[in-house]
Amino acid sequence: MRVSVDVGYGYTKGLASGRAVSFPSVVRPAQTADIGVGARPRGYMVSVRRDGEADLYEVGELALVMGGRRSWETRAASRPDYAILALTAMRLAGAAGGVDLGVGLPLELYLSREEREALKARLTGLEGFVSVDDAPEAVIRVDRVRVFPQGAAAYSAAVAGEPALVRGTVGVVDVGYRTTDYLVMVPRGEGAIPDRSRLGSVQVGVGEAFEAVAKAVGRERATMLSSAAVERAVLTRTPLRLWGETVDLAAALQREYDRLGQEVAEHLRRVWEDALPDMAALLVCGGGGVALYPRLAELTPVARLVPEPVTANAAGYSVLLAQAEAVR
Ligand SMILES: Nc1ncnc2c1ncn2[C@@H]1O[C@H](COP(=O)(O)OP(=O)(O)OP(=O)(O)O)[C@@H](O)[C@H]1O
Ligand SMILES: [Mg+2]
Repeated sequence: MRVSVDVGYGYTKGLASGRAVSFPSVVRPAQTADIGVGARPRGYMVSVRRDGEADLYEVGELALVMGGRRSWETRAASRPDYAILALTAMRLAGAAGGVDLGVGLPLELYLSREEREALKARLTGLEGFVSVDDAPEAVIRVDRVRVFPQGAAAYSAAVAGEPALVRGTVGVVDVGYRTTDYLVMVPRGEGAIPDRSRLGSVQVGVGEAFEAVAKAVGRERATMLSSAAVERAVLTRTPLRLWGETVDLAAALQREYDRLGQEVAEHLRRVWEDALPDMAALLVCGGGGVALYPRLAELTPVARLVPEPVTANAAGYSVLLAQAEAVR
């Protein structure tokens, strides 16, 4: 079966047969399973059994709550947690048996053949009996891996729903947790190609907003507040409780989103300059795209938030996987 997995610095997204999943990209070896004071924790406790040996990991929200950290390794193929994140995403999306896997790299890395091959080599043949929480175990075996460019993949997903897009110049900005990737697709023949002089990445992501708000609120109340706690409050839309008090984060978050959105918009104004007036559409995607959209929309009247911003790249891998198989 075809499965798409988009491993970001912030979140891992998975997509198979229309089922989409997303969880924080955090893994740590399980340390909470046997404290013996109650039920096994969930969300997620992941077991991977290979050669008769089972390894147990805390993944996603559970790992984050337990103090696990995100990997800041820039090379996907060198990320120690990549395989576990990918297996968890595949299992949660309902994968079982042989898998044709689609994954992605930031466009700048994707342009290096070495990076693409390294990631492919790392994942091809990956296999194990995987179970998540109380769900039944399933064997997953990665038979084939295709690597796609992030951002450009989100563009392909948009084109699949709106074929006329290929006839115009289209900007894409993918706002993530740590980085923001951007590119411009220009029509060429029957399709479109990225304009190499107008693509890149800025070290801006919404993770910074959570950090800044945690620091500011902590300072105000002379206490320690983790950015993970702020992030959880945002994602679950539950008010933050601090020393028995409810803290409203909305205003502080909005200030940070505005500041970051402004920063990205200024950068794009500089690098895109004369391409902006030519654009038929500017597609804003990525989980952070939602938060920064109001500022990015000031760049051009043709800006729009794609329908499923968080899983836009994963959706693109699925489109590109299907196309690759059709021509095989
Ligand atoms: N509706 C929303 N409003 C604000 N933030 C959101 C929303 N939905 C998701 N996010 C945030 O978006 C961020 C994740 O975005 P995304 O999954 O695109 O990043 P990533 O791909 O992991 O990061 P990177 O591209 O830097 O590797 C998370 O920090 C999440 O909290
Ligand atoms: Mg991303």
